[in-house]
Amino acid sequence: MTNVFFGSTGLEANEAAIKLARKFGHDRGIERPEIVVYEKAFHGRSIATLSATGNEKVQKGFGPLVEGFIRVPLNDIDALRKATDGNRNVVAVFFETIQGEGGINQMRADYLQKVRELCDAKNWLLMIDEVQCGMGRTGKWFAHQWAGIVPDVMPLAKGLGSGVPIGAVVAGPKAAHIFQPGNHGTTFGGNPLAMRAGVETLRIMEEDGLLENASRVGAHLRGTLARELGALKGVVEIRGQGLMIGVELDRNCGVLTQRAADAGLLISVTADTVIRLLPPLIVTEKQADDIVAILAPLVKGFLAE
Ligand SMILES: Cc1ncc(COP(=O)(O)O)c(C=O)c1O
Repeated sequence: MTNVFFGSTGLEANEAAIKLARKFGHDRGIERPEIVVYEKAFHGRSIATLSATGNEKVQKGFGPLVEGFIRVPLNDIDALRKATDGNRNVVAVFFETIQGEGGINQMRADYLQKVRELCDAKNWLLMIDEVQCGMGRTGKWFAHQWAGIVPDVMPLAKGLGSGVPIGAVVAGPKAAHIFQPGNHGTTFGGNPLAMRAGVETLRIMEEDGLLENASRVGAHLRGTLARELGALKGVVEIRGQGLMIGVELDRNCGVLTQRAADAGLLISVTADTVIRLLPPLIVTEKQADDIVAILAPLVKGFLAE
């Protein structure tokens, strides 16, 4: 059985996931449940999701934060084992498959598979925040599918409503029965407009082959960026999957956001040094070339300053 709870934002979906994990613990007699979260993670700006977020700049000024989170580095299974060793309060592991705000940092497939095994062995919930990397962005419906794993709890939002506010948390068989009537809800959750927008989004994505488009145009865009910028001194790495792409420079490059906007291109710079590209899933190869035609000279000029 699968259950879906609807809200209006990503942070709300993540709040629901955190509540699910805590109740999962309480139902098993764990009074002070703890959730494993990651360095550089971003889960939202409400108090609990801010506490789960691994960025002190975002948290600054809003303490005291919510307790009950254990923080570990990405892609380090030994660190995860060590941080949780002998701790009977752990109830869940919670992460983004590809960290967006944190700088397009990817969880490796072998790491994801080991975390899935660990969650099964320890009876923890595997909770994957697909708010940014999900809904076709990487070329599969959900980014974790590239690793062939299935989470127990999956928050979604952003692309799910094509611009209409919608959030959802999907709870698989291990988590579907945790919330009882009244445990969770919100006035606009499941409203007809948002539900229709969600259903139409799924239909159009399928009919127009947007997953395939994200894979194909994403590979083209990454390849073109690599050719134009990959060998430059000052470019650390070009990485990502599908249409979720990061160009990491060796210095703070926040000024590029405005320069790109002035040149007609909307980009963002995350984690100070990573140019993040999240073009719409309908982007064409020609438009991808236009992106590079604007961005590459800007980056070259910036690095030469
Ligand atoms: C991975 C992730 N989770 C949660 C959120 C929060 O979503 P919202 O802004 O809809 O609250 C974001 C927003 O950027 C996000 O990238």
